[in-house]
This record gives sequence, structure tokens and C-alpha cells, in this order.
Amino acid sequence: MKIIIINGPNLNLLGVREPEIYGQSSFEEYLVGLQNDFPAVQLSYFQSNVEGEIINKLQEVGFSWDGILLNAGAFTHTSVAIGDAVAAIKTPVVELHISNVFARETFRHVSYIASHAKGVISGFGLNSYKLALQSFLN
Ligand code: DQA
Repeated sequence: MKIIIINGPNLNLLGVREPEIYGQSSFEEYLVGLQNDFPAVQLSYFQSNVEGEIINKLQEVGFSWDGILLNAGAFTHTSVAIGDAVAAIKTPVVELHISNVFARETFRHVSYIASHAKGVISGFGLNSYKLALQSFLN
């Protein structure tokens, strides 16, 4: 099974960025453990701070891969174009967030992705990625 994690803007700064919200671990560190927990899954990882690069990646994998875990960061709340890309592709997408976006500012309560996603996971720290991955195996 081929699953890709796509992380959006500022998520390259995990471990450094607002650790009280996003935790102390870099994503690269977390990814090693995640891959070990799911040895049967072929896991790939892509991060970009650029909206169009995220759309290009969604289109590239979105007709042949088995699943996409998408944390679009702040683009979740602003990007009609990423929402349209998720609607356009065939591969199921789970939208996820490290923090509980519904416990934060109201602008984070809006998602242009959620209505096109298989489901949404929010608020479980980095474990949100594990829960999202698990959802493809059930
Ligand atoms: C985030 C939540 C977003 O509101 C924020 O802009 C992010 C990270 C999360 O994982 O909690 O960059 O997607």
C-alpha cells in the first residue's frame, strides 16, 4: 500500500515552531517511528511552503496512490485551489491537523478541504498522522 504524507507551510519547522502547540519533535524524527510502526506501508513524505507545489504533488499522486494524509497548514483555511485539487483527484485524502483547530481562532474553523476529504483528524499532536494512517488500514 502506497501512502503519502503531504505537509504544507511552516510544518518544516516542527520541533522549533511554537512547541507548546506543535510539540518538540521534528517531523523527520517522528516519521522514522511512524514507518517502523507500519512496515507494510510504503510511506512517502513531501513538504512545501508553496501552494502550487502542493497542488502539483496532489495531481501527481492522486490517480495512482492508495492514500494521502494532508496537513495543508494555514492553506487549509484559505486555499480554494487546494480544495479543488482534492476534489479533482481519485485517491482518498484524510485532512489532518496536529492541533485542535476548533479550539483555536475562528479563522481556523474553516476548511476548504474537509468537504472533499474522506475524513478529518484534528488535535492529537503528531499522533494525528498515526490515526490518519490507521484509517487506511481498517
Ligand atoms: C495546523 C493548524 C493550522 O491552523 C496552522 O495554520 C498550521 C498547522 C496543525 O497541524 O495544527 O500551520 O494545520
